Amino acid sequence: MRAIKIIICFIVLQASAQQGGMWIPSLLEGMNEDEMRSLGSKLTAKDIYDVNNSSLKDAIGHFNGGCTSEVISDKGLVLTNHHCGFGQIQSHSSLENDYLKDGFWAMSLEEELPNEGLFIEFIVSIHDITDAVLKGVDDSMTEKEKQSLITKNSNAVMASWSKEEWQDVKTKSFYKGNQYFLFVTERFEDIRLVGAPPSSIGKFGSDTDNWVFPRHTGDFSMFRIYADANNRPAKYSKDNKPYKPKHFLPVSLDGVEEGDFTMVFGFPGRTNEYLPAVAIEHITKEFNPTNIAIREAALKVIDAKMKASDEVRIKYASKQARIANAWKKWIGENLGIEKSDAVEKRRAFEAIFTKALKEKNLEDKYGNILSEFDKLYKDFAPVNIKRRNFIEVFLVTNELMQMTFRAYQVEQALLENPELLDKAKASLTSRFKGIHKNYDKDLDKGVYLSVMPLYGKPLDASIYEKTAFTNLDSALQLLEGDVKTIIKNLNKDAAYVYAKPIIDEFYNKIDAEYQQKNTAISALQTKYMTALMKALPNERYFPDANSTLRVTYGQVRGYSPRDAVYYNPVSYLDGVIEKYVPGDYEFDVPQKLRDLYNTKDYGQYADKNGKVPVCFLGTNHTTGGNSGSPAIDAEGNLVGLNFDRVWEGTMSDMNYDPEICRNIMVDLRYVLFIVDKYAGAKHLIDEMKLVHPKK
Ligand code: ARG
Ligand code: ASP
Repeated sequence: MRAIKIIICFIVLQASAQQGGMWIPSLLEGMNEDEMRSLGSKLTAKDIYDVNNSSLKDAIGHFNGGCTSEVISDKGLVLTNHHCGFGQIQSHSSLENDYLKDGFWAMSLEEELPNEGLFIEFIVSIHDITDAVLKGVDDSMTEKEKQSLITKNSNAVMASWSKEEWQDVKTKSFYKGNQYFLFVTERFEDIRLVGAPPSSIGKFGSDTDNWVFPRHTGDFSMFRIYADANNRPAKYSKDNKPYKPKHFLPVSLDGVEEGDFTMVFGFPGRTNEYLPAVAIEHITKEFNPTNIAIREAALKVIDAKMKASDEVRIKYASKQARIANAWKKWIGENLGIEKSDAVEKRRAFEAIFTKALKEKNLEDKYGNILSEFDKLYKDFAPVNIKRRNFIEVFLVTNELMQMTFRAYQVEQALLENPELLDKAKASLTSRFKGIHKNYDKDLDKGVYLSVMPLYGKPLDASIYEKTAFTNLDSALQLLEGDVKTIIKNLNKDAAYVYAKPIIDEFYNKIDAEYQQKNTAISALQTKYMTALMKALPNERYFPDANSTLRVTYGQVRGYSPRDAVYYNPVSYLDGVIEKYVPGDYEFDVPQKLRDLYNTKDYGQYADKNGKVPVCFLGTNHTTGGNSGSPAIDAEGNLVGLNFDRVWEGTMSDMNYDPEICRNIMVDLRYVLFIVDKYAGAKHLIDEMKLVHPKK
């Protein structure tokens, strides 16, 4: 009888342990630790996060604020995705030294390339400061009063926090403002490029394969952290030394197979898991489609120009990838929400919530939340769409409009405070240089002609011939002279004159209305979160992603995207060769890789069937920002490098469904195989600690 009970308990735990979640590493003891164990983990909460001893978290770095990276040697060698290091790889590339196309490998420390502005940040410790932050906050206050007291309180906590002088502190809100944490961090700023495979490996399959499985992308690149003589963070200096980390991840040569435990440790950016059904409906039926249409129009122009010219291809590689990425994600998100009946399921859940409110006598306080959401979203939807469409046109796709937008901001700032002149000039100069570093006027004009009508404004193609913005020198000339001259000259520029009323409308009408309505929705969302936790206290609640360090765990699993189709969880080098299209911009395969395949020269990197695994799937709940995160096995070894999710599963940002949500990882054996056999950078392999946990 007892055995049966244990088995039942185990099955229940198994099922619930598959439900996803992104958990705070300092709070894993108890429920998470148990769930992880039931999935096969041998790690304790303290192995993962420990303030007093080195632990796994000491190897995990926030890469440039947007991706994740991990330390894999005692000399500060760092692994992240190819698409995370893409900007750096591109910035060292030229037509003669095309590292994007051919790859790059530093064969010694001296050959490693510095990267201005790039940083990696580690978490030293995490502290719950909720009481101090919410001190004096009560329901009689307006939203504005609440927020300003919260800001004041959290600034006071940060100011008085004791830390080392080379460390920083920051605070973040969790559970929609129901909880607050403080993070002590260390930020390293001398980060050098060590290696990157050619795009035909690191971006193999490009946009066609992006967000889908079966996948065969070797999406990795390597960097190294340098520190000062005391092993502390420092600005770039040729005297800096490779960083000696508190912990680095050993690399497993044994890999994982279906059913094995994996955990992904990183910095997920943003999720919205507790939205009401009405919000999911708005996002997928109204909001996404309009933004998809704008990006699609821009991509049509960009793709054609990139195919026609190598120079344009290199210039626009990064910009194109950024635009295409979210475009395709949103399409998948809509697909997944529809396929999994997410809106209906959310409505059913809301019925359970409403019933629980009644049973617990919470109706008076929280009973009107859902109807209030309905009202607010109806009112919010049009302005939410309009505002985002503006951003898509003025900040994402059309660069001339982006320059006028930045100039507009500077004009406003100068009108208010002329003393800002030097600062304003510097900031605009760097914006203009940033854009012109990789700018093609013809392409941009094509984008303008196709996106602006989607924002509902009349076109005037002649601005491209008359404006000063499309050439760096003449754009910078606009910034010469005193405040009056600059403002006068800006207001004579044809593009500026064209854009100004549109930007005026954005700030004075659209954004103002959006902010006001969004504040009301956020406040209601905070109340909803509180109500959920009170009405249904036994549900598993994890805080939405907010670019802080999180743990997610699951198992290696395939999935069924459609009727009668099942995706195995592991892809192999054989699949790379199957997809090979000679000379294709997405599916070309380097000669050397084909040779290695033909001669089966796999070294120690094949699995037990003699094949080189390339990518694998897991049930880890990840999102944007988790790119570059390590996939860690039951014993704390590195087995994979997270880089993507499956298409139908990208809805996990609003609705994690264990049936179809999968994260995609590069098998570390493929990474090692490329570094060693393809690139001949054996010295990097020698730096790592390779282990055989399964032998
Ligand atoms: N979809 C992945 C993520 O959101 C990978 C993007 C990079 N790859 C690409 N083909 N754009 O970032
Ligand atoms: N590719 C994403 C990233 O760059 C990861 C994801 O959205 O699954 O962070």
